[in-house]
Amino acid sequence: MSSIVIVGAQWGDEGKGKIVDVLTEKANWVVRFQGGNNAGHTIVIDGVRTALSLLPSGILRPNVRCLLGAGVVLNPTVLLSEIDRVRSAGAVISPGRLVIDRDAHLVLDYHILVDKARELSRGADKIGTTGRGIGPAYEDRSQRSGIRCADLLNPNKMRERVRAHVDEKNKLLKYVLDSKAYVDFDVLWERLSQEAEILAPFVGCGSRIIFDALRRDEKVIFEGAQGVLLDQVHGTYPFVTSSSTIAGAATVGTGIGPKMIDSVIGIAKAYCTRVGEGPFPSEIDGALGEDIRKRGHEFGTVTGRPRRCGWFDAVAIKRAIRTSGIDSLVLTKLDVLSGLPAVKVCVGYQVNGEYVDDLPASLEGYEGLIPVYEELPGWSEDISAVRSLRDLPANVQSFLEKLSALIECPISFASVGPGREATIPVEVSDVLRAFLP
Ligand code: GDP
Ligand code: IMO
Ligand code: MG
Repeated sequence: MSSIVIVGAQWGDEGKGKIVDVLTEKANWVVRFQGGNNAGHTIVIDGVRTALSLLPSGILRPNVRCLLGAGVVLNPTVLLSEIDRVRSAGAVISPGRLVIDRDAHLVLDYHILVDKARELSRGADKIGTTGRGIGPAYEDRSQRSGIRCADLLNPNKMRERVRAHVDEKNKLLKYVLDSKAYVDFDVLWERLSQEAEILAPFVGCGSRIIFDALRRDEKVIFEGAQGVLLDQVHGTYPFVTSSSTIAGAATVGTGIGPKMIDSVIGIAKAYCTRVGEGPFPSEIDGALGEDIRKRGHEFGTVTGRPRRCGWFDAVAIKRAIRTSGIDSLVLTKLDVLSGLPAVKVCVGYQVNGEYVDDLPASLEGYEGLIPVYEELPGWSEDISAVRSLRDLPANVQSFLEKLSALIECPISFASVGPGREATIPVEVSDVLRAFLP
């Protein structure tokens, strides 16, 4: 049995897609277990870039099978267009190679309209969601009225439930959210019933499939979306997403027991980014933040929104390590920092003169928060072609050592470019080694 969970250790976009791809050469399954098409995961193979929002990042490897687990919320229209796009780039996507869990919930048009209308009605207090209907779809799941992939197998049975949803959401939009947007049931139904026919053969029982695969000693990678600091409970609430993004969600969102997970890998940038609103203690304002955004091409994979940039925050990462049980960290985008005379790392916060070593629980806690930094020497060399630890400049090596000591966690890989090949092993455990070529 060999299974690893990969989670973002910051606020998303850490490079999870790239690292999942790197580790899938010998994997049998890649499983998405939460989130939906709010995710945007980028893979670069031989210079060709593919962005995925729903399909797991193993889909480009022909021998890897992929599961969209029960914890995912799935927009069928987006999934089908993504399947088309990836197929036209040469991937074979057939039922059996891609499985959609019967218990995953659907994101339908009204979820998207409610998401957007609610954001508008929040005004200055908006969350800055991706507008993909993710929150409202999870709301329906929690209040036990959601439409699931199992319903795609028997569309006529779901028809009246979808109609009831459309009626209810149209009222919500008009009378509560003061929105002019509304959903036409006939239009939605015509499309959804066609999509149900195409997707039905892909629907299966993910929990059984992965349980059996692990019993057969197959290799499984659980691919997290978003980041631990966006976790609905343990993140910077209320500026979070609507699913659980910590590693434990892999068991809940797949339907397997916690003992079936061998290791948890966190992915973090050598600096930090955040899209949307919400607290970001180590955010860099002004020209330097802008400079890092440009160097790192920090614009949302899904929405194209500029990402806010800041220094590596060891306090926040320690929270991620704790809440997800991260065994080792992969540090990405080290190449982006080349040329900076000095690199800062946030090692603590001062709040009203007191030293604080965790993210505050409430928004008020961030008022007057001052990050405490340690400054490390930068490096001028272009490191994007370096492929081994010993060939990295001394200052990069000491940066890695310093971070690892600060966060009390080994660094397994250092990433120096978007491509598969630009990945340097640092301290690789036996569990991880089993996934390498
Ligand atoms: P994900 O959501 O965590 O999968 O990350 P995204 O794909 O949204 O954003 C990460 C971006 O950084 C993508 O454009 C990747 O191609 C790119 N990337 C990943 N690792 C590296 C790296 O080490 N260096 C550079 N320059 N780019 C990287
Ligand atoms: P990947 O998987 C970065 C952020 C949004 C917003 C908040 C809530 O690519 O790392 P939502 O639409 O989920 O209700 O938005 O969460 N967010 C992400 N930020 N990367 C992501 O995914 C994100 N998915 C959601 O910007 O702040
Ligand atoms: Mg992303």
